[in-house]
Amino acid sequence: MLLNLDLIVRNGVVVTASDQISCDIGIKDGKVKILAAGIPPQEGCKEIDAEGAFVTPGGVDSHVHIAQSAAKGLGARSADDWTSGTRSALAGGTTTVIAFAVQARGASLTDAVTEYHKKSDKYSVCDYSYHLIVTDPNDVQMHTELPKLVKEGISSMKIYMTYANLKLNDGEILNVLMAARKYRVTTMVHCENADIIDWMTNNLHERGMTEPWHHGTSRPPIVEAEATHRALALAELMDTPMLIVHVSAPEAVNIIRRAQTRLLPIYAETCPHYAILDGSEMRKDGFEGAKCVCAPPLRDDPKDKERIWEGLANGTFTVFSSDHAPTCFDDDRGKKLGMINNPTKNPRGNFRTIPNGLPGVETRTPLLWSEGVLKGRISPQRFVELNSTNAAKLYGIYPQKGTIQPGSDADLVIWRPDHKRVPHKIENSKLHHACDYTPFEGVVLEDWPRYTILRGKVVYNGKTNEVLAQPGSGNFLQRGPSTLPGPRNQWPSEWRPE
Ligand code: URP
Ligand code: ZN
Repeated sequence: MLLNLDLIVRNGVVVTASDQISCDIGIKDGKVKILAAGIPPQEGCKEIDAEGAFVTPGGVDSHVHIAQSAAKGLGARSADDWTSGTRSALAGGTTTVIAFAVQARGASLTDAVTEYHKKSDKYSVCDYSYHLIVTDPNDVQMHTELPKLVKEGISSMKIYMTYANLKLNDGEILNVLMAARKYRVTTMVHCENADIIDWMTNNLHERGMTEPWHHGTSRPPIVEAEATHRALALAELMDTPMLIVHVSAPEAVNIIRRAQTRLLPIYAETCPHYAILDGSEMRKDGFEGAKCVCAPPLRDDPKDKERIWEGLANGTFTVFSSDHAPTCFDDDRGKKLGMINNPTKNPRGNFRTIPNGLPGVETRTPLLWSEGVLKGRISPQRFVELNSTNAAKLYGIYPQKGTIQPGSDADLVIWRPDHKRVPHKIENSKLHHACDYTPFEGVVLEDWPRYTILRGKVVYNGKTNEVLAQPGSGNFLQRGPSTLPGPRNQWPSEWRPE
């Protein structure tokens, strides 16, 4: 049988969101052409022997901040540009990232996208797209620019309920949701109550309580839970789907679960740091705690991590994203801003001026594989859903991305077979991002990708820890609407959006 294949991955256990099957994968022109046991050898075709190991779809990390200024508006600089950020993605088994084109207040969404293309197109080494961050949902932006951008393949937006320069009030959120429903755009919401945070931050500051862990004191779980409840009420009023991003508090998980039980089209995301780390990280010696200042914060009760794993296993969480938001620790425009802008001269700094966010695009997939699948917390199929498939469906790139089936892009991660697995200690010096630390330093994993393949090409070799793709080789992905359940045509009153 002549299939003119370019690459055969032999003897893998191919995992999708629904199945697990021992077979070979035949690849032609960057696409999966055939899944079959014993594909006949093809002349001139390369082969990789997976040696009985799992082969999973390339990761889709649907929440990364690359070459984007930090949300607090402190003039912080992103540690990564598009080349270092996406090299890091490939080395950790992620072949697609969705980052954020930020609308400045008073400016246009289209300009934000045009500017972001300049930063990414010639530099990305993996496939990519953007969500819009909407800060000014006026009529022109929502009803002239947004539909134009949807036609160009940008089918999602993120909005904030906190951060002075980004937050929207409830009325503005309703404007966004009305447009989202009309143009079939997925809305992502950062849920924290801005007024409580501001009040608490000022009060803690007056009392001299500015150490890094008081970032957590200023935004306890009820801050996230209240905003989550409010966001879901607004989504229900509008009858439009919504994804709550980076959920950390069990109280918020419960609110989301209740909404899902009522069959509302509510989706949720969590991140590796909420499953693996806790608030004790912010109490480390000196200024070290600044490394783990992110929003929502790491939670103090170590048991909360188990609630996050429960939500990952039981389907409450739709996607597992990195929220890669890297600023260097030893950088006057990174975490050190919390030492420089430190009016009370607290020797441990000022949480208020520490940029929020952690790096994590490279460690996301290996952490979920090792801590989730290999430790028996989730099945390989659930891993694939969380790591790839659901993000591809929610953000309109399925089945091109997010699965392994004939016709889909040949984006694969080949893991190590049982007999060849060796413990892998996470060390920043081995990672490919440009950040000077990882919050997961010293965590020992049971496996790391042996190969990452993007559109049929080996782009990362785990043996040498080398990324083999060239800047500009990543493709911009034009996305369609979500294929997960959407509006139900049910409203809480006789009011209708149209
Ligand atoms: O702390 C975080 N998550 N930083 C990134 C910006 C955001 O809040 O989305
Ligand atoms: Zn956020």
